[in-house]
Amino acid sequence: MQVQTVPTTPIEGQKPGTSGLRKKVAVFQGAGYLENFVQSVFDALDGFAGQTLVVGGDGRFHNDVAIQKILKMAAANGFGRVLVGRAGLLSTPAASCVIRKHRAYGGLILSASHNPGGPDGDFGIKYNIANGGPAPEAVTEAIFARTRTISRYLTLDVPDLDLSRLGLAMIGQTRIEVIDPIADYLELMQRLFDFDRIRELIGSGFRLRFDAMSAVTGPYAHAIFEQTLGAASGSVINGTPLPDFGGHHPDPNPVHAAELMAIMTGADAPDFGAASDGDGDRNLIVGPGLFVTPSDSLAILTANAHLAPGYQDGVAGVARSMPTSRAADRVAEALGVGLYETPTGWKFFGNLLDAGLATLCGEESAGTGSSHVREKDGIWAVLLWLNILAVRRQSVVEIVHGHWAKYGRHYYSRHDYEGIELGAADALTSHLRGVVDTLRGQRFGDYRVEQADDFRYLDPVDGSQSARQGIRIQFEGGARIVMRLSGTGTEGATLRLYLEQPEPDPGRHGLDVQTVLAPLAAIADQIAGIRQRTGRTEPSVIT
Ligand code: G1P
Ligand code: ZN
Repeated sequence: MQVQTVPTTPIEGQKPGTSGLRKKVAVFQGAGYLENFVQSVFDALDGFAGQTLVVGGDGRFHNDVAIQKILKMAAANGFGRVLVGRAGLLSTPAASCVIRKHRAYGGLILSASHNPGGPDGDFGIKYNIANGGPAPEAVTEAIFARTRTISRYLTLDVPDLDLSRLGLAMIGQTRIEVIDPIADYLELMQRLFDFDRIRELIGSGFRLRFDAMSAVTGPYAHAIFEQTLGAASGSVINGTPLPDFGGHHPDPNPVHAAELMAIMTGADAPDFGAASDGDGDRNLIVGPGLFVTPSDSLAILTANAHLAPGYQDGVAGVARSMPTSRAADRVAEALGVGLYETPTGWKFFGNLLDAGLATLCGEESAGTGSSHVREKDGIWAVLLWLNILAVRRQSVVEIVHGHWAKYGRHYYSRHDYEGIELGAADALTSHLRGVVDTLRGQRFGDYRVEQADDFRYLDPVDGSQSARQGIRIQFEGGARIVMRLSGTGTEGATLRLYLEQPEPDPGRHGLDVQTVLAPLAAIADQIAGIRQRTGRTEPSVIT
């Protein structure tokens, strides 16, 4: 079979420093666009001849077309074997699991995560390395550089494969295995968690609702929660993956998971609610009438992880992204384990997990995970919660309130200003960088700045440095303001403002979150001039 060398032209590719390429579907449909990126990945790597590549995606519009192209290109480039999920599906954490378990060279994951899908929505692709995690910066830089100079890609002129059934096929010399997207993942979950105990809990009348948001976790949730753990059928809602996610925004936060929130605040609310995003790596946890913030969830999971068999020896350490609240820090202190503060983005956890410094990690943006894979993992977080509930036999509300009573409550919220003008965003950032060193010791009403900086991360494992990761303003008494620009938005710039106010007194744990944080929001505006520079009087989204 003849390898075809197709001429192509450089693309406006992935932003360096971001783990993956995310664009409108129409861009990916452009001639040679996807091919250019995929070939750039292969050109940036070496030593993969005869090795295994894993391919799968979240099932969004264009997933099927892209996968067929990738299979032919992987064969033309000399991979020995490709493992592809049935129907082209693999959740991001399941892809990470499959890469690790089958000792693959790496994997290509097709997803734009929580961004909307469909012909007018977003599409995306990223490359993960052999440890199952997103490619580190050195690799993404090399891929990016290649997208700028590439002039040809390699493919084979063969018909599309039928991916709807498990089985084997050959493209040229390359063995294509259509695998069950759930089996390896389920097996890993059964090793980490006490499924019998969770089954008992559910058998005792405990009711749960999982909203798959018409995205990739539907089949996983049906198989795990309903078929394996015995939850009543109907416990999984929006459980069929749709190319356009039913027109919704598959982002599991209280705003976008409105259907689940309505159920959980309704009269006959089940005991436990959860949701995951487009590609299955994010999670939302909610009890009857109580949204558990991702920052609190990380802290609570850390304090209770030892109740699950996979973590019975305790955690080696905890890692959280810098803007994530410091609720987890309190638990790490109590456990006497390390706490690592990393820049935003999952890839920074990889080294800590590989080195065994951290066992659990999480981000305020609804990502929680552990050393079991190298991606955040929505269903894993739900199972750890269920395992804890099954052992403690307390309600979600009791567990959360008990946690606050013991460690203090960290009132926390993120205010997003989306789609602001790039010029305004740049001006705001340079202004902040200009004043940040002068803030120390300054007084704003009852608040006095203890420390302020533009966060710089020194990776304790490989010594690499990442500068300019966000402005941190810390006040005496523990309150904190963080401001940074989003690296994932596709239109204009997004300013993220993170507010945190610790409250040790249990008598003050029932206050309204935004009311508690209002003084900090006002201080942030005073320091950064948000309203004046962006022309906005309100954030676009508050989570
Ligand atoms: C956002 C989240 C961040 C997460 C990333 C990818 O990035 O804030 O925690 O890792 O999406 O899911 P941002 O847009 O803030 O750069
Ligand atoms: Zn995601």
